[in-house]
Amino acid sequence: MFFIFFGLILSSIGIASSHVISRNQLNYNDRIINFETVGGIADNSSLDTCWANSHLLNQTFASMQNGDTLLIPYNKTFWLMGGIYARGLVNVTIQIDGILKFSDNQTVWPRDPQTQQVHECFFFEQLSYVTFTSSLPEGKKGIIDGSGAHWWGLVEYLLIAENRPRLISIYNSTNLLVENILLKNSPYWTFLANDIANLEIRHTDVDARVNPDIHYHDHNELQAFNTDGFDVAGTNVWIHDCNIWNDDDCIAVKEQSSTSIHSPCSENMLFERINASGVGLTIGSIGPSASHTCVRNITFRDSTMYNTFKGIYLKSRPGALGHTGEITNVTYQNILINNASQWSIWIGPQQAGYKDACSLLWPFVPGTHCPIPVGITWNNIILRNITINGPQLSPGVILGNSTNPMLNILFDNVLVTKPGILPWGTHYYACEGVEGIAQGNTEPPPPCFKRKPF
Ligand SMILES: *[C@@H]1O[C@H](CO)[C@@H](O)[C@H](O)[C@H]1NC(C)=O
Ligand SMILES: *[C@@H]1O[C@H](CO)[C@@H](O)[C@H](O)[C@H]1NC(C)=O
Ligand SMILES: *[C@@H]1O[C@H](CO)[C@@H](O)[C@H](O)[C@H]1NC(C)=O
Ligand SMILES: *[C@@H]1O[C@H](CO)[C@@H](O)[C@H](O)[C@H]1NC(C)=O
Ligand SMILES: *[C@@H]1O[C@H](CO)[C@@H](O)[C@H](O)[C@H]1NC(C)=O
Ligand SMILES: *[C@@H]1O[C@H](CO)[C@@H](O)[C@H](O)[C@H]1NC(C)=O
Ligand SMILES: *[C@@H]1O[C@H](CO)[C@@H](O)[C@H](O)[C@H]1NC(C)=O
Ligand SMILES: *[C@@H]1O[C@H](CO)[C@@H](O)[C@H](O)[C@H]1NC(C)=O
Ligand SMILES: *[C@@H]1O[C@H](CO)[C@@H](O)[C@H](O)[C@H]1NC(C)=O
Ligand SMILES: *[C@@H]1O[C@H](CO)[C@@H](O)[C@H](O)[C@H]1NC(C)=O
Ligand SMILES: *[C@@H]1O[C@H](CO)[C@@H](O)[C@H](O)[C@H]1NC(C)=O
Ligand SMILES: *[C@@H]1O[C@H](CO)[C@@H](O)[C@H](O)[C@H]1NC(C)=O
Repeated sequence: MFFIFFGLILSSIGIASSHVISRNQLNYNDRIINFETVGGIADNSSLDTCWANSHLLNQTFASMQNGDTLLIPYNKTFWLMGGIYARGLVNVTIQIDGILKFSDNQTVWPRDPQTQQVHECFFFEQLSYVTFTSSLPEGKKGIIDGSGAHWWGLVEYLLIAENRPRLISIYNSTNLLVENILLKNSPYWTFLANDIANLEIRHTDVDARVNPDIHYHDHNELQAFNTDGFDVAGTNVWIHDCNIWNDDDCIAVKEQSSTSIHSPCSENMLFERINASGVGLTIGSIGPSASHTCVRNITFRDSTMYNTFKGIYLKSRPGALGHTGEITNVTYQNILINNASQWSIWIGPQQAGYKDACSLLWPFVPGTHCPIPVGITWNNIILRNITINGPQLSPGVILGNSTNPMLNILFDNVLVTKPGILPWGTHYYACEGVEGIAQGNTEPPPPCFKRKPF
């Protein structure tokens, strides 16, 4: 949509005779580096092999030149250790036809010697015109597997909290395409693109689950928390035709930092034809800053959420006095939310465990609080043609701070069938600090919205 990719059409996968096929041999203006023929060891999960493969993959990335393709061959699993790093790849393709699978050995996982912070599984920066793809027939995908199960769970959380590796983390990069990959069981966030411009992700699935056969986010399943799906900050992002099952934000638009290079705001993003179940199609959390945090022009559309925990989730965070930020021009359109087990619609403060956050137990546990931060200005949030069937709780929460109320919140055809009774009964929504309009077939309307009959 935004840019041209320098992809190759390669049907010839069975190349295995030499380490590197030269340009001339192939009659393509590029080389294919087969990871197995350069020495990658397949189908052996020993720690020695994990390390050897990881060092080799690191070296291979460092050797890649403009036009190269790295091939992970079909029907082979290459076990890896974390800490794989590449910088400055330009115009290259990483073609994952087989499986890249990470060790789950936390004892030997590489860490920063000073802080003990884990290294990510993959960390990339300064990429430009890079494609992650697979060339398998329709419906089949290359796999990157984070072996997350040993990193998840309440007991682990008490021990290591969020010091867990992201599966793929990409920083300060432009013109990326990710397609036809399954990102499985990430130990922590699945995919983070931070300060990027021009990213397309398509036909790429996220799957992080404790029990492979489960179809609900029950208490056992929710132990895979912090397994965010696609977290993105930057400009020109298009994510489409993806399936996501996880136990945190399915897609989250994150804020740019004050030192960002590619755009001051997180903006111009389109997410469509997403089938997601987890903690929401999310904006945030967005916190105010000295340099004015901004999120603008974001659309989620034509998507489904079955048995999700949260549905539409926009969340702000508290910040220092005098710091500011905005969430402007966000549209959710044609979204179907069936049997949500928690909130179908939440527009307001982030629910989290830190001090001054809206409590995760609010309002169900007496004495819990939900303070509403004042530093983020909300304007022009549209929910259009949203169908919510049988939410287990009341449909939602729309909470602005009345000293800086949310402006132009429009619900157009937001139809809820068989809403749950708890906790808001016949009010249906917690609703305050909002200048909202309910129009079309919006039923039930949020009680603090004005009703427009068209
Ligand atoms: C796996 O690799 C290790 C060396 O890292 C070797 O000792 C072991 O025999 C290999 N296992 C198989 C099944 O080849
Ligand atoms: C990969 O290279 C980076 C930077 O050169 C280094 O920090 C990391 O330890 C390497 N990882 C492996 C597994 O060799
Ligand atoms: C990118 O690589 C392709 C070969 O894969 C080559 O034809 C093309 O010229 C390269 N583009 C740039 C901008 O270097
Ligand atoms: C995949 O590899 C296994 C051996 O590891 C082999 O038995 C099987 O036939 C291969 N499948 C395909 C489709 O190539
Ligand atoms: C991790 O690797 C170390 C070193 O080989 C080994 O002693 C330890 O048992 C492994 N831990 C797990 C959980 O596999
Ligand atoms: C961002 O990437 C560009 C090259 O693409 C590089 O020149 C610049 O130094 C990088 N900046 C940071 C902060 O990493
Ligand atoms: C909003 O973002 C879309 C991409 O999702 C882009 O096509 C459009 O031009 C942007 N609109 C404005 C006003 O920048
Ligand atoms: C969408 O997700 C649901 C639940 O995760 C799954 O049952 C369904 O098959 C998915 N639909 C498509 C079209 O992939
Ligand atoms: C929001 O969208 C309106 C048009 O609908 C446009 O006039 C305005 O400039 C946009 N605001 C921002 C901050 O992008
Ligand atoms: C409304 O959304 C549903 C999916 O929830 C879709 O089937 C329908 O076509 C949409 N209607 C319009 C008028 O866009
Ligand atoms: C809704 O989800 C709950 C689990 O949260 C499950 O027990 C129930 O069967 C589901 N209902 C429908 C109609 O799918
Ligand atoms: C609104 O913000 C003000 C200033 O931060 C704060 O004192 C007040 O408690 C907030 N209101 C709510 C309902 O949280």
